[in-house]
Amino acid sequence: DWTAEHIIDDLIGGVRAQVGDQGRVLLAISGGVDSSTLGLLLARAIGERLTAVFIDHGLLRLGEREQVEAALKPLGVNLVTVDARAEFMGALAGVSDPEEKRKIIGREFIRAFEREAREYGPFDFLAQGTLYPDVIESAGGGQGDKSGAANIKSHHNVGGLPDDLAFKLVEPFRTLFKDEVREIARLLGLPDHIRMRHPFPGPGLAIRCLGAISEEKLDILRRVDDIFISGLREFGLYDGCSQALAVLTPIQSVGVMGDGRTYSYTAALRAVTTDDFMTAEWARLPYEFLATMSNRIVNQVHEVNRVVYDITGKPPATIEWE
Ligand code: XMP
Repeated sequence: DWTAEHIIDDLIGGVRAQVGDQGRVLLAISGGVDSSTLGLLLARAIGERLTAVFIDHGLLRLGEREQVEAALKPLGVNLVTVDARAEFMGALAGVSDPEEKRKIIGREFIRAFEREAREYGPFDFLAQGTLYPDVIESAGGGQGDKSGAANIKSHHNVGGLPDDLAFKLVEPFRTLFKDEVREIARLLGLPDHIRMRHPFPGPGLAIRCLGAISEEKLDILRRVDDIFISGLREFGLYDGCSQALAVLTPIQSVGVMGDGRTYSYTAALRAVTTDDFMTAEWARLPYEFLATMSNRIVNQVHEVNRVVYDITGKPPATIEWE
């Protein structure tokens, strides 16, 4: 009968059979549930023959890198964290077009990943947390590539990699749905804040910091986002939303503080409910909660003097603002 524990045994058996006694496996960790769970599974299956690479592109949320490290390292995942922040910031300097940002981030990601693959290699296999719906979607054409930056294949035709990086793919979750992966994650000991996390796009905060990004703007956005997401958790509203996010707009407007006028940024909050992320409704968050968030944000983040809540569905709006 179907239980997650049997599935775990089967998956481990399958990985060992595919990888053999000597095979070495490379995995990109995004910090999301799929790649993190895969890291835990592979650590169980092949131990140190797994190298999991987590690239910090400087577009992560507050404390995210530390959370991923704290979740995976104690459970035996051979995790390499790469500080690539300066490279990404350099490549993105002055770039304001959303698709251009995505392209640059994808390219820099592959570049950093290939470098680490050479540094720690050679590897025989590349592991990916591809799920059953991803398999279906790519077979059917889907609605374009929305996969995370940790999904190497989406950025790079694996057959087209340089010869010394010509990996075979290990994709143990190809037959599984997200709920099943979450259940497996629970049994493997992945902390709930990662296990039940909303999706987070590969390009990260870069597509929530509208226009050209800068360290200063990312820092503002990171603090606003943390207040909103922590608030949702604190008020028990997080699990009821499919995705929630903060956006830093380039709009500056006049405000008043004490005796003086301010001229500061407008931050937008967005929360949606959806089954498939193709269409979405804006989440009807309680006014009292929104009022609390607005107060906290303007009190704690002095660069922001106005907070708006996005009340647009998808379509016509998208979930992200870029
Ligand atoms: P939109 O904004 O198109 O987003 O309504 C739908 C879902 O896709 C995510 N998203 C991305 N994920 N790379 C990703 O990995 C991207 O470039 C990207 N753009 C959007 C978005 O967060 C939402 O879950």
